[in-house]
Amino acid sequence: MPGPLRVQWKVYVLEKYVIKGGIELHGEVEISGAKNAAVAIIPAALLVDGVCRIENIPQISDTDMLLTILSELGAKVSFINLSTIEIDCTKVHFQDAPYELMRKIRASYYLIGSMLGRFGSARTTMPGGCNFGVRPIDMHIKGMTAMGAEVNVKNGFVNAAAADGRLHGARIYLDKVSVGATMNIMMAATLAQGRTIIENAAREPHIVDLANFLNSMGADVRGAGTDTIKINGVDKLHGGSYTIIPDQIEAGTYMVAAAATGGEVLVKNVIPKHLECISAKLRETGTIVQEYEDAVLVKGASTLRRVNIKTLPYPGFPTDMQPQMGTLLCLASGTSVITEGIYDNRFKYVNELRKMGAEIQVDGRIAIIEGGTGLTGAPVQACDLRAGAAMVIAGMCASGTTVIEDIHYIERGYENFVGKLKNLGADITIVNFPDEPDGNDKILTLF
Ligand code: EPZ
Repeated sequence: MPGPLRVQWKVYVLEKYVIKGGIELHGEVEISGAKNAAVAIIPAALLVDGVCRIENIPQISDTDMLLTILSELGAKVSFINLSTIEIDCTKVHFQDAPYELMRKIRASYYLIGSMLGRFGSARTTMPGGCNFGVRPIDMHIKGMTAMGAEVNVKNGFVNAAAADGRLHGARIYLDKVSVGATMNIMMAATLAQGRTIIENAAREPHIVDLANFLNSMGADVRGAGTDTIKINGVDKLHGGSYTIIPDQIEAGTYMVAAAATGGEVLVKNVIPKHLECISAKLRETGTIVQEYEDAVLVKGASTLRRVNIKTLPYPGFPTDMQPQMGTLLCLASGTSVITEGIYDNRFKYVNELRKMGAEIQVDGRIAIIEGGTGLTGAPVQACDLRAGAAMVIAGMCASGTTVIEDIHYIERGYENFVGKLKNLGADITIVNFPDEPDGNDKILTLF
């Protein structure tokens, strides 16, 4: 996408997916770069006094948004091709920071760690992101404060400054396992004076990916992927190249879609180790999952067995796969129970599934799914990114036609979702519905 990065994305809220159900998915799908690694690695480029070449960046609106934010902060962003960019942050400034963009995505909180680490001060907005309950950043702030920053949150802005102009090392215990806080503190600590130890750290694959990116730029981060990460601060990070890992959740989404439609799909360009929990749970339902070096083959079962799921930090079952599994279990015979172990309220998609005939009871963080009733097409909403993916799977399995609105959520995290699904045989199209009866287009300015 050459040319000016500042895009005024006016997505007509009338853009919807129209899906005709009852078709098995068959064929091969190539997984793109990991969204939750890319949305940390792009802001981390601010730490680097040089040019970072980053490959396998997923083409999704969240990464576009972050690249736009960096370019508005004065970074030079060049597209080598659609998934490879070079970011030069040698000349960044903070005047006129694009706060209205920062407010729209969760990952803008990574700008706190990268700005503080490099410049000793930071001003961002409180993050946006999918709304499933309270999503505070108190642990991010706890970590930065421990490293000598004064942090205050006022009028929706986060202001931080290192008392001595540079952060110092600290020992930080995270009360809760937090992906964002782990990565944010890791970033800030790479250029702090001295050693930082993060205890009770999150262990997701994208955390290891960020650590590997930082180390390839001259940082000294050890232990990523375990619950204790040690970072020895260095004075400067130099430029370099890095390739982002494949997306564990995108891969899991196609695996569940294959299982739910009863098809057979080879999911390529994956790291099977990252998918172990998803593969194991799908096998429990009777789905066949065969692992190869960098692919998994998923074959749907004639009848799906009920299972229970509890979402946990990695290597437990990922919360970002919970809605997709909720859809699958509507098709299984028997009663399944899902316990959401990470968020207060990640069952908003249940109301949309009920519109399609699902029988699900929700009580706080527990959903009880009476499977086997089958699903019928209906007009539904994408409540958030993964809920939207769950509704697409439901539409592909339902009898009749399903229309999904608010698809901008889905476009945030899945590269070429419609194209990849069409390639597997799905009957899915993006349609611009006629203007509202009162004649005015409802336009949603994404950014
Ligand atoms: C990241 O969110 C991901 N987002 C989420 O993916 C994912 O669901 C989540 O990690 C868990 O894996 C990005 O990486 C951009 P957390 P994050 O900090 O960092 C609480 C998707 O679909 N908490 O691990 O915000 C928090 O409320 C998205 O791709 C605090 O209390 O998640 C939650 O209950 C959705 N205080 C729990 O910890 C804090 O300071 C885990 O949150 C931070 C978090």
